[in-house]
Amino acid sequence: MAVTTAAVDSTFIYILVFSLLLFFAIVFLMVYFLVRYRRSRNPQPKEIEGHTGLEILWIGLATLLVLTMFFYGLAGFRLLRRAPADSLPVKVTSRQWSWLFEYPNGLKSVDLIAPLGRNIRLELHSEDVIHSFYVPALRIKQDTVPGMTTQAWFRAGQTGSFDILCAEYCGERHSAMLAKLVVLPPQQFAQWYAGRPVQAAGLGAASGKAVGMELLRQKGCLACHSTDGSRASGPTFKGLYGRIEQVLHQGRLETITVDDAYLRRSIITPAAELVVGFRNIMPPGKPALSDREIEEIVAYLHELRG
Ligand code: CUA
Repeated sequence: MAVTTAAVDSTFIYILVFSLLLFFAIVFLMVYFLVRYRRSRNPQPKEIEGHTGLEILWIGLATLLVLTMFFYGLAGFRLLRRAPADSLPVKVTSRQWSWLFEYPNGLKSVDLIAPLGRNIRLELHSEDVIHSFYVPALRIKQDTVPGMTTQAWFRAGQTGSFDILCAEYCGERHSAMLAKLVVLPPQQFAQWYAGRPVQAAGLGAASGKAVGMELLRQKGCLACHSTDGSRASGPTFKGLYGRIEQVLHQGRLETITVDDAYLRRSIITPAAELVVGFRNIMPPGKPALSDREIEEIVAYLHELRG
């Protein structure tokens, strides 16, 4: 189990156990008093005075109990906030609607690949709106805020593939803003980190993929555009090149043939010539994409023609 998971779970269980004990104690006393002081046994009500000693006792005990919860929670909170100094830093970029993870050696990945037992410090950024980086298995949830760097850290305690979600509503495709945390044994991680292909559950075959396809994945285009012809929030890329489309251009309906120039314009200013039947929700392609990257993508879209 990860350290962060243990910290959050132990606090949760601590509070849960006391809540359950109090719940049963209160219900027991309620039923007991109902029976004990029922009308048939006590036809004449009795006036009972308060008991200062008892009142001090239960106020004191309750305060102490809540304070232990506070300090227990505070210890866990501090642990979650402070990454150990020997952590491997990973830059996390969030945007509508995908994640990108960048390693110190320049390696980029759409999934978070981590070695077992090693401290990882996440430096979280947002390119547009507020998102929230959420890994239920690690009990980590941290907002990503535009214009500011936020942090989280973890040390995975078991290998496997775990869900990463966005936990802050960020627009149309919020629910599809998913990724995987893949925890590998250290040797396999080293292999992956060195850029060599790794066979592991949850890891896609990384090698031999077209640069354009990798860009579409990394830049999050595939969150809204399919490559197999299926309809999503945006037009499918399959057969897009050369297709004849109806677009809305400055309020007028126009018929265009999708060519290189149109693809470039659509990436840079998606709203300018909007394909009829789709909503204007795509963020402009710059500065997320460099000119070279736009050319790579346009070239790759040629390949998806047929
Ligand atoms: Cu990003 Cu919700």
